[in-house]
Amino acid sequence: MNDFNTDSPTMLADLVITGATIVTDTAQFAGAVAIKDGVILAIGDASAMPAALEVLDATGQYILPGAIDAHVHFREPGYTHKETWETGTASAAMGGVTTVFEMPNTNPPTGTLPALQMKLEAAKKAYVDYGIYGLLAEDNLDQLETLIDGGVAAFKCFMGNTFGNLPSPSTGAMLEGFEIIAKHGYRIALHAENATIMARRQIALKASGRHDAMAHLAARPPVVAIEAVARAAILAEWTGARIHILHVSSGDELRPLREAKLRGVDITAETAPHYLLLDEHAYEQHGSLIRVNPPVREKKHQDALWQAVADRTIDMIATDHAPHAACEKHKADIWQADCGFTGVETQMPLMLTQVVAGRLSLCDYVRLTATAPANAFGLYPRKGTLLPGSDADIVVVDLAREGIVEGRHLHSLGSSTPFEATPVKGLPIHTLVRGRFVMRDRKLIEAARGHGTSVRRIQHMPAPTPRNLEHTTAAVTRAVMAV
Ligand code: NCD
Ligand code: ZN
Repeated sequence: MNDFNTDSPTMLADLVITGATIVTDTAQFAGAVAIKDGVILAIGDASAMPAALEVLDATGQYILPGAIDAHVHFREPGYTHKETWETGTASAAMGGVTTVFEMPNTNPPTGTLPALQMKLEAAKKAYVDYGIYGLLAEDNLDQLETLIDGGVAAFKCFMGNTFGNLPSPSTGAMLEGFEIIAKHGYRIALHAENATIMARRQIALKASGRHDAMAHLAARPPVVAIEAVARAAILAEWTGARIHILHVSSGDELRPLREAKLRGVDITAETAPHYLLLDEHAYEQHGSLIRVNPPVREKKHQDALWQAVADRTIDMIATDHAPHAACEKHKADIWQADCGFTGVETQMPLMLTQVVAGRLSLCDYVRLTATAPANAFGLYPRKGTLLPGSDADIVVVDLAREGIVEGRHLHSLGSSTPFEATPVKGLPIHTLVRGRFVMRDRKLIEAARGHGTSVRRIQHMPAPTPRNLEHTTAAVTRAVMAV
């Protein structure tokens, strides 16, 4: 009798992409990628690929892991005139972004189970995969574990005031929140600006008659970030909580960030294209449109941030996609303008332009936009890389393709961007999420609406050891924990 199953069909891939250069965070090589059932089946020489239902010729182009944007605001529920999950994730798909992490300053804020359920319902329209941030606030410490059970992928704590006016928690509440979340391993992202310094400055500036755009910068000097980063790092070190510093904007806050990393704190950090590419001239050029928290700063900070990207003090690039209606951005009085602007669709063209200009390698770009966020939020190696078995979250980019940023052509409802009319070189051409095209030939695939799913299905965040208890005796530990 023949033990071999001679009728087994030859493995047939769903799609093979040929002719391109494959790029990961550590390597770049000519090859092809085969995809089956939403995952990468094989990577290698085109001649070694299995037969496929479809072959896409990407000659001259580059195959990258789709970007993972750890910082977007999609506004639903609550502010759907600014953005919705449908428009926000369409914008992501068009920007080569295959996973987003969405922020809790919606209405209601994502600090309770019913609010989380409303958001998960809204997210059913997503084109791309997503993680939802739960809120860590003064008054919802008893909700944090409920939010974990309900499906949040990480937490967000507003140490400083920003859009949504969520009050910043006391240091005591933050510590207790960190203790609770640390036990579950989830990362806590910080809007690291000191609330009271900024509030007092803003009152003083208003009282002195300042209403110009640069008064916003004056209200938020780097000390607000230095203090908040240092304080968050101390609480993380004490509790063992993993933390993530959002939108690093100044050279000065890099010192407490570096020191915390050296002490072994599990701290990651992001910056955004507007901090790397804009400086103080933006205030004169854009007026109130440039109002964003934290503010775009002077050129010396921009230089320090590029250095921190190079030496890996900064782990990743996120966008802080914060869309508002044009009338909410353009105000004669700076204090009346909403903070933030659109960004999820423009990050890749803007940063690939820097790659083409030789300021960043393509491997570094992949690390900053895909591999590092996947590692930080427990998604690696299912996401953030190109390996057999990884989700086929892929962006095919053309580094020779030129374009111009035009707000009215973005898929976000927020069309105000400080990069309006900026020439770019390097565009995402196709975006695939788990093997399915969500953008093809620079066109949104509308039938893919709702294809996005929560990353919680694959997320792995084992709890770390709290460092404050590492060196105490068992008896003292019991006594301390009993408090
Ligand atoms: C963000 C928003 O509009 O939600 N605004 C901003 O200026 N960055 C909030 C935030 O991330 O601080
Ligand atoms: Zn913020």
